[in-house]
Amino acid sequence: MATMKRVLVTGAGGFIGHHLVNRLKREGCWVRGVDLKWPEYENSRADEFDLLDLRKYDNCLQATRGGIDEVYNLAADMGGIGYITGALADIARNNILINTHMLEASRLNGVRRFLFSSSACVYAGYRQRSADVTPLCEEDAYPADPEPGYGWEKLFAEELCRYYWHDYEFDTRIVRFHNVYGPLGTYEGGKEKAPAAICRKIALVPNGGEIQVWGDGKQTRSFMYVDDCVEGLMRLMASEYREPLNLGNDRLITINGLVDLVCEIAQKRLSKIHDISKPQGVRGRNSDNMRLAQVLGWTPSISLETGLEVTYKWIQGELKKAGRIPLKYAAHGAD
Ligand SMILES: NC(=O)c1ccc[n+]([C@@H]2O[C@H](COP(=O)([O-])OP(=O)(O)OC[C@H]3O[C@@H](n4cnc5c(N)ncnc54)[C@H](O)[C@@H]3O)[C@@H](O)[C@H]2O)c1
Repeated sequence: MATMKRVLVTGAGGFIGHHLVNRLKREGCWVRGVDLKWPEYENSRADEFDLLDLRKYDNCLQATRGGIDEVYNLAADMGGIGYITGALADIARNNILINTHMLEASRLNGVRRFLFSSSACVYAGYRQRSADVTPLCEEDAYPADPEPGYGWEKLFAEELCRYYWHDYEFDTRIVRFHNVYGPLGTYEGGKEKAPAAICRKIALVPNGGEIQVWGDGKQTRSFMYVDDCVEGLMRLMASEYREPLNLGNDRLITINGLVDLVCEIAQKRLSKIHDISKPQGVRGRNSDNMRLAQVLGWTPSISLETGLEVTYKWIQGELKKAGRIPLKYAAHGAD
């Protein structure tokens, strides 16, 4: 009889980690989740869930104890563009501690394979100055000019994974996510990303009202639905590919376009008020998925319309439950 795969997911109280735990359980794995906090919106299905601060080495040894086959290291101090441009020292220090200690503890505890979650923020800023950006392929991270703080520590941790293979033949996978969104993600408080923030703002204003948009709204990005993200993660873990790999959608859209899409889903006509004093990050960023298709034989396929509809309805439902949407415009498509 095949033995059950034993998997550790760090950051299991967070957005992607929680979805990944659900999927791993459906696939029949034994799962340990670790985080500083419980999942915010529903209970974890992990077989074990430990509250641990992974900046501390002893806690990383504890997290990886007892014969773990695979580690998905998703724990990180991170948030939307306002957060990652405002807390450079904290983010860099916290994440360097988590990643170095998790790598070493995993190696010493005999973990078979370790996946590190990197980010499109590692890509060089000088390649992202135009809204009509050329999609970024994996080599475009060098010569290095990543996002200050968050991008630098991700790029360093990618290198560290390579060194662990070079020195110890410790088997690592490196994924570069491009803007993941979906239900059960943070949608307010400062750590939320653009799609969730836009859904919240649109749910909270009546038809005919105003929505504040950060920057001039002409900055461009691509967005991947969380189910595609989890599928790609599991495929990468199962692959033999050890170099950094993009995992994102390659449909480029402006932030104004994203607002218009959510307005259509909400059936609201709103005026956009642009606040150019707010951070907007690089001017344009898109994922080149050629290598992804070659390596995994697969690319993300869930459309932005489908994913945003699920996400909007979930955020609207949460706000309704909290009594924050006045009844006169609470109904989907009302007024
Ligand atoms: N969501 C995206 O669009 C995106 C884009 C690029 C990269 N990523 C990366 O993917 C991973 C998961 O992102 P997410 O969107 O699920 O974020 P998230 O913030 O929802 O989840 C991260 C989790 O890590 C936990 N954490 C932070 N510090 C910790 C510590 N010291 N010890 C233990 N746990 C700690 C947090 O409590 C949180 O639950 C992160 O590494 C992130 O940098 C995400």
